[in-house]
Amino acid sequence: MLLTNAQIVTLQSDDNFGLIADGAIAVEDQNIAWVGPAKEVPGRHLNDETHDIAGRLVTPALIDCHTHVVFGGNRAAEFEQRLNGASYEEVAKAGGGIVSTVTATRASSPEALLADALTRVDALIGEGVCLIEVKSGYGLDHETELKMLRVARQIAQARPIEVKTSFLGAHAVPAEWKNKPDAYIDKVCIPALRAAHAEGLVDAVDGFCEGIAFDATQISRIFDVAVELGLPVKLHAEQLSNFGGTKLAAKYGALSADHLEYATEEDAIAMAKAGTVATVLPGAFYTLRETQAPPIQAFRDHGVPMALATDCNPGSSPLISALLTMNMACTLFRMTPLEALLGMTAHAATALGAEKRGRIVAGAAADLCIWDAAHPAELAYRIGFNPLHSRIFKGSL
Ligand code: NIG
Ligand code: FE
Repeated sequence: MLLTNAQIVTLQSDDNFGLIADGAIAVEDQNIAWVGPAKEVPGRHLNDETHDIAGRLVTPALIDCHTHVVFGGNRAAEFEQRLNGASYEEVAKAGGGIVSTVTATRASSPEALLADALTRVDALIGEGVCLIEVKSGYGLDHETELKMLRVARQIAQARPIEVKTSFLGAHAVPAEWKNKPDAYIDKVCIPALRAAHAEGLVDAVDGFCEGIAFDATQISRIFDVAVELGLPVKLHAEQLSNFGGTKLAAKYGALSADHLEYATEEDAIAMAKAGTVATVLPGAFYTLRETQAPPIQAFRDHGVPMALATDCNPGSSPLISALLTMNMACTLFRMTPLEALLGMTAHAATALGAEKRGRIVAGAAADLCIWDAAHPAELAYRIGFNPLHSRIFKGSL
């Protein structure tokens, strides 16, 4: 296939988005075989099946590198309670919060979990997303953690999308292990991780390093198992306080540290040295009405790549839009439209250890978006509007 008459946002350089004003892309066997100016198309591609895309904009497909799209129930009632004055703690004590999602997820059949997750995945696909990460972490028992990960794998069978899974057994201490976080890690979390890995269900290991979840020593015991199993790690870090998660993540050479509102310049330096991506999550910042933004300028100054994601989950970020996430990153965090697009493409790919994704370059996967837009800054600029014309997944329109 040969796409012609395209404005190509290659992201091969930061200079004007790496734009090729009148370009062409040759696709072969699910990969990009050639990209460049229209008048330089190599002879071997001139007889390819040609699609004139009428001057539309082409970008790499979007990537949502931090989601919790598999979960039971929802927390709209809790949202209402909070608007009526209840605090997050009061809601949790009344049986709401993360515990209520754990109860609903344990009670849901795999079929129901999948059907529910697909409603969210379809919305992301509709915006040009071709790769998502999906976490466990609402099971918090052996059986349900594995059930969630199996459902995450099934998403890629049910829809034209690629899925990377993260084991997040260390998301919270479940009610039945209250005040016994270490025993929970030893008796439930680590055995479940080993079993899930043996079943081929785990691409990375995640944790929540925070006062209300697990400390760095507890997380490091899980990360040691990840290292033993040859799995990369990532971490929810510095979301509500500076709790040492970023430095721990850097020490383990994590793919990414995520949230990071309370990270410091020192944390940014540690991440730069380790090659750890900073994944910022404006949906959670917005929903929790946080006022301290992540240290974006420190990430820039020290050359830490910034990824962006929806953090789609029923509690802190019921956000199911990659485009709105990009807009929020610009408006709330003062990121540029180029940083927002890199955050949803190339840097999101790095945060997932996904090679050959996120830039339009020969040899990369042919996962592309065609937009009814004239300039790439338009993607982050509008609020609640989707200019996607079509999506190419693995070389197919
Ligand atoms: O990524 N930070 C931790 N966990 C989730 C939200 C959990 C919930 O409230 O259900 C997050 O924001
Ligand atoms: Fe999260």
